[in-house]
Amino acid sequence: MVKLIVVNRDGEETVCEAEVGLSVMENIRDNGFDELLALCGGSCSCATCHVYVDDAFLSKLDPISPDENELLDTSDNRESNSRLSCQIEMTEELDGLRVTIAPED
Ligand code: FES
Repeated sequence: MVKLIVVNRDGEETVCEAEVGLSVMENIRDNGFDELLALCGGSCSCATCHVYVDDAFLSKLDPISPDENELLDTSDNRESNSRLSCQIEMTEELDGLRVTIAPED
């Protein structure tokens, strides 16, 4: 288990236990956050798992795929640190990762 810090849409921060090997989306969902709809179940086709990743961790993530990039472009709330949380696998290296759930489009 590693730590995952989740900031919800009210700005409340929660330190969660996260399972390595699951996606960040799955870990957020498993920790009971119902704001993150993740409607497509992680198949990179809905963009309802949009989060903002703290800058300190951006360089540790795999690059954005063309599909993820295209989907993020459909969001009015895209920022430079936007990612789809279903496309980020939780690893030991990401221990302490802090993400903020993006506003609903
Ligand atoms: S859960 Fe649908 S794109 Fe991530």
